[in-house]
Amino acid sequence: MRGDILVPMRVIGMMSGTSVDAIDVAVCELARDPQAHADGLLLRLVAYREQPFPSRLQRRVLNLLREQSTPLADLTELNFLLGDAFADAVLETLCTEGIGADEVDLVASHGQTIYHLMEPSRRPSTLQLGEAAVIARKVGVTTVADFRVADVAAGGEGAPLASFLDVLLSSSPDRTRALQNIGGIANVTFIPAGSGVDRAYAFDIGPGNALIDYGARHFSGGRAHFDRDGAMARAGYADTELLESVLRHPYFSRRPPKTTGRELFGDEFAAELIARAASRNLSPEDTMATLTALTAETIAAAYRDFGPPRVDELVVSGGGAHNPALLDRLRAALPDACIRLYDDFGLPGEAKEAVLFALLGYEALHGRPANLPSCTGAAAPAILGKVTPGANYRPLMERIATDIRGNASMATQTLRVLR
Ligand SMILES: Nc1ncnc2c1ncn2[C@@H]1O[C@H](COP(=O)(O)OP(=O)(O)O)[C@@H](O)[C@H]1O
Ligand SMILES: [Mg+2]
Repeated sequence: MRGDILVPMRVIGMMSGTSVDAIDVAVCELARDPQAHADGLLLRLVAYREQPFPSRLQRRVLNLLREQSTPLADLTELNFLLGDAFADAVLETLCTEGIGADEVDLVASHGQTIYHLMEPSRRPSTLQLGEAAVIARKVGVTTVADFRVADVAAGGEGAPLASFLDVLLSSSPDRTRALQNIGGIANVTFIPAGSGVDRAYAFDIGPGNALIDYGARHFSGGRAHFDRDGAMARAGYADTELLESVLRHPYFSRRPPKTTGRELFGDEFAAELIARAASRNLSPEDTMATLTALTAETIAAAYRDFGPPRVDELVVSGGGAHNPALLDRLRAALPDACIRLYDDFGLPGEAKEAVLFALLGYEALHGRPANLPSCTGAAAPAILGKVTPGANYRPLMERIATDIRGNASMATQTLRVLR
């Protein structure tokens, strides 16, 4: 432990995104920043691991998301099976890193999104599964989970939540930045130069890798789960006419704040697009190039339609940052923005969301709000997450009681990453 960390807390952040590719586990240390005022935080990423999704469970989740219906017994069981898988991912990480569970203060788990219901005619709602009681029991550590619902209860979209970390870590006095995450779905936080938590705004742009992954599975007969290094897309040409017709989908012209998911841009959407490509005699490579171009072009269109007048830097994170075909197309579509990798900000781009949930768990425990109303559309800031006590609950509460800091306002919050 470094000398400049005061009373550090070890928090494990865990994320499983819409790609259902892996369970991302980030072991973090968080503490008050002795060089800042009472609201300053220090964060250090101690270890990061992507635990491949157990393949039977992955198939079950993907089938459920595709079919959009399931017997209630299966749904009930899935909640606990996901809890088991998340707990196992934590235990594997601790074992690999040689860290004892008794050295961990908190687990913060996003869970697996099963449905994100933001249709105008329905009660806004969202469901993430992965029973926290199972995690708390198996790991033996107090667990915070279910972060999105408090924002939805406050009238927000429940997403994107990454904006909190984006603003704390990546705002600049003189450069306007777009923090672009490309997971299964693509989402952006725009941070105008000199702005803090109040002027940043964010939304889900549309498909990230979800359609590309579907295409890769489809054309490989299920052997490949994604288009590694964009190899297939690079071997083909995008079909401009098909692309333009898909870009007319009403979601893309809807004003933010807005969020979406696999409910809209999932397997059904991908299958229909591939069928249209086939009827236009596109080769598998041309189809993959078109799906890849769609992600880049929807991002570029969202910047033009809803972004600040000028974006100096586009900072990419998520698995899509590893797809050069996607980045090339993005660079061509947004020639004025300098494309940077999130890694420049001191955290590996793929670890960003797991680290985010470690931070959100820490904030939940300290009773501090962590949603940005200007990003999610919530009526007010909200403390996110639900606490499930584990074996360490009493000593943890005693510690928090002596460590409660600041004035529960996000306006003065700062964050420094120790490398
Ligand atoms: N080397 C790579 N080449 C192309 N695509 C990649 C590569 N590595 C990761 N990806 C893409 O990133 C996706 C996973 O991204 P991730 O940020 O974990 O998304 P999510 O948050 O939805 O789980 C994979 O499904 C794949 O599409
Ligand atoms: Mg993932």
